[in-house]
Amino acid sequence: MTSPSVLDVEDLTVEFRQSRRTPPLRAVNKVSLNIAPGETVGLVGESGSGKSTIGRAVLGLNPVHSGRIHFEGRDITRASARTRRGLSARLQVVFQDPYSSLNPARTIGQTLAEPLLAHSRTDERPIGQRVAAMLERVGMPADTADRYPGQFSGGQRQRIAIARALMPEPRLVICDEPVSALDLSIQAQVMNLLADLQRDLDLSYLFIAHDLPVVSHLSHRIVVLYRGQVMETGPAGALYTFPVHPYTRALLAAVPQPDPRAQRAQRARAGQRTASSPSAAASPRGCAFAHRCPHAIDLCHSERPPLLPLTGGRAAACHRSTELHPLPAVPQSQPHT
Ligand SMILES: Nc1ncnc2c1ncn2[C@@H]1O[C@H](COP(=O)(O)OP(=O)(O)O)[C@@H](O)[C@H]1O
Ligand SMILES: [Mg+2]
Repeated sequence: MTSPSVLDVEDLTVEFRQSRRTPPLRAVNKVSLNIAPGETVGLVGESGSGKSTIGRAVLGLNPVHSGRIHFEGRDITRASARTRRGLSARLQVVFQDPYSSLNPARTIGQTLAEPLLAHSRTDERPIGQRVAAMLERVGMPADTADRYPGQFSGGQRQRIAIARALMPEPRLVICDEPVSALDLSIQAQVMNLLADLQRDLDLSYLFIAHDLPVVSHLSHRIVVLYRGQVMETGPAGALYTFPVHPYTRALLAAVPQPDPRAQRAQRARAGQRTASSPSAAASPRGCAFAHRCPHAIDLCHSERPPLLPLTGGRAAACHRSTELHPLPAVPQSQPHT
């Protein structure tokens, strides 16, 4: 990669200690990902796969067991609270539920001005004008600044939460399920807004969601996570139209189809086993997905497949990916990978 990454996460491992007697829960297991300037990387996986834990580790809200996190070239893995405060303008977050993240007792104008009061510079336009311009930029009416969060719908509150995140002019915004609680039509509007803002402001996003179509709509590249491990990565369009890993295929098959016959056909194509719970025991040595995988062989239960590069900037952690779902052959001129 030629341009330096905005975010570079290398072999990130996060553990949570539950009690003294049980071993710690490894919520994130050696995850690596990077995000270029102006790029959206989608992080997808079912509930409990460790998506939010990765986002929170980047934000300094979860302790890192091992691995490295670099932001704008700087190691922030164990940054002090003071360093974090300095970073907060460049590294922002939008959560799923804007109501709990917007203070109900403060006007929208007060909430949006807050991050600027901390780092105000005298050479800038008055804060009130900047608040009004940002609210307009996210498609909110002019009188929004004088009103309270409770006076707005879910979609409007998410626009306000996005405006607040963008006020200090960040470089990277971690979007943790920002549209998951919204109606489908509102989801599309908010995603289009995020895409417009990215183009205009040269933002990078780590876009977290459990829904693969949603993630692929907005992302340039996708990282598929299962039980804290990367199962597959690649450019969004290619990964969505031709998923290689059986888990990615199962995620796609789980997307509801309006027509039951289409749904059955989709599930059959994916070869998905039914009634398999994500919390069922997995072999600690083998592939995390083996106990749910219709294609698992003995090797899958005894040896964890490494994340191996395929063609077209893709990679999958599956012993059988090239045999089951072969991608077009590697061009001869390709540099060794
Ligand atoms: N603060 C915490 N303490 C203990 N366990 C946690 C904590 N945060 C997350 N977990 C556990 O880590 C796993 C991953 O959670 P999370 O990152 O929230 O998943 P996702 O966002 O993909 O739904 C889950 O098993 C969850 O219960
Ligand atoms: Mg989450």
